[in-house]
Parts: sequence; structure tokens; C-alpha cells
Amino acid sequence: MKILICPDAASARSVAARVLKRQIAKKPSSVLGLATGRTMEAIYQLLVTDHREKNLDFSSVTTFNLDEYVGLDGLHEQSYRYYMDKYLFSQVNIHANRTHIPNGAALDANAEADAYETAITQAGGIDLQLLGLGQNGHIGFNEPLSSQRCRTRAVTLAQITLEQNSEMFGGNQAHVPSRAITMGIATILESHAALLVVTGPAKADIVAQVIEEPVTAMVPGSALQFHPSCLIVLDEDAASSLCGRSTINWQMAHDPELTGLVQDHDD
Ligand code: GLP
Repeated sequence: MKILICPDAASARSVAARVLKRQIAKKPSSVLGLATGRTMEAIYQLLVTDHREKNLDFSSVTTFNLDEYVGLDGLHEQSYRYYMDKYLFSQVNIHANRTHIPNGAALDANAEADAYETAITQAGGIDLQLLGLGQNGHIGFNEPLSSQRCRTRAVTLAQITLEQNSEMFGGNQAHVPSRAITMGIATILESHAALLVVTGPAKADIVAQVIEEPVTAMVPGSALQFHPSCLIVLDEDAASSLCGRSTINWQMAHDPELTGLVQDHDD
């Protein structure tokens, strides 16, 4: 695990966007795993700006999103398909048929999940998986109690997730679907590289559990400790409950990948 703590949320988002841009530059036909949520909106905005101003080229990129609500089709404004079209896909030169999000309206959610997992394999696996973190430690929609060996499947959302995501459903928890299709933890751990981005004081305690506590199914994000190539980008607020700052600071100052990411020579 590598940890990069940025002074503020804006610089954390810039670093995250830089990681994605460098991945596309290194391999134009990259398979990107993408995430949704408030944290990601500004990251996608940075990519859109680079596409417009610096010709960041998505024409050969393939994407697989982490998750989708069961019961919502892509035209529903709170679906993750709608979110991705709005914040990224409609604003860059990506081919629509290379963008993949589980079909929340599929009649058989489990069959849809199996087909999604197969499609990821057929695409050659995910080169770089972007991740956010729920306040209960979920990654994708892998809620507490998720096995580290679980794969793409239909899941029941935790009560706290329904509460937190109700903001996007007019503040009414009853309108938030209670089921979702999500990539599994094993699916996420098989990505060649993972990038977890977390900002804000509300997630400080769960970030400390993800990074510094033993791996447990109760904190699904802690499984990232087993990822062979995981970069975690935080702002100071999200990092404020970490105990091991001296270890992290040493790594930040001496690891060439991390020092190189702070430099913005490709921007
Ligand atoms: C949703 C997504 C997660 C995401 C989380 C965090 O629940 N399914 O993949 O990590 O939101 O969202 P936010 O960035 O809005 O806190």
C-alpha cells in the first residue's frame, strides 16, 4: 500500500486525476474501473477539462463501473449509468459501447452480475480501478460482512448507506433502492492497480480502520491491504485519525512514485 496525503481535497482530486491521465497516456487502450459518488464528480471534471484543453484521448479506453442500483434503468437520474453519462462519458470521446455498468433493470440481477464478471475477464481484466469509500467502509457496494472472495453479485445495501445516499434521492430514504449489483472484493483485488480516493473529516475514522486495523469483513475497504498495487490518496481531513503518520510521511518523502505524483509536469 502507498499512501499520499494532500494538503486539501482539491489537491487530492488533482493527484487522482493525474494517476488516471498517466494510465491513459501509458496505455491508451486501458481498461479503467470507475466509481461514482460525490468524491468522483470533481475528478471527472478534471479529466473532461484535460480532454478539452489537452486532448486527453479516451477513444481506445474501455470502462467498467463498480456498481448500479437494482431497479433503476439508465435513464433514471439517480442511476449510476446516468451519473457516468452526465459527468464523464457524454463529455469525452469515449465509445459508448466500451462503457460498462451493470444493468440495474435486468430481470435477473444475479445473471446480470455473472455476465458482468465474464465481460471484465474477456476485456483482459482491469488495469486501474478507481475507488471511493463509504462511511461504513464499503468499496463499490460491498457492505460490511462482504467476503474477500466475493465476486460481482446482487447485494442488499446497509441501512447507513441508504441514509447517506438518500441525499441524491430528494432526502427520502424510502426512495433509495435497497439492492444493488456490485463488483466483488475479489474482482476489485484482481485489478492490476487500485486507486482509493477519500476526502473530508467524516471519513477519518473509517480511513484509519481501512489502513491501520487488521483486515476484517466488517470493514470491506480493509481488504485493499491485500492488493498488490494500491495507492490511497487522502486529504489532511481524511488522514486526521491515522496513527502512523511518521511511517507514511517517510514513504511520501522517499518513494519515487509518490514524489513524482506530487509534481504536475504532465499538467
Ligand atoms: C456510493 C458508491 C461507492 C462510493 C460511495 C462514496 O455508495 N457505491 O462506490 O465509494 O458512494 O460516495 P461519496 O464520495 O459521495 O462519499
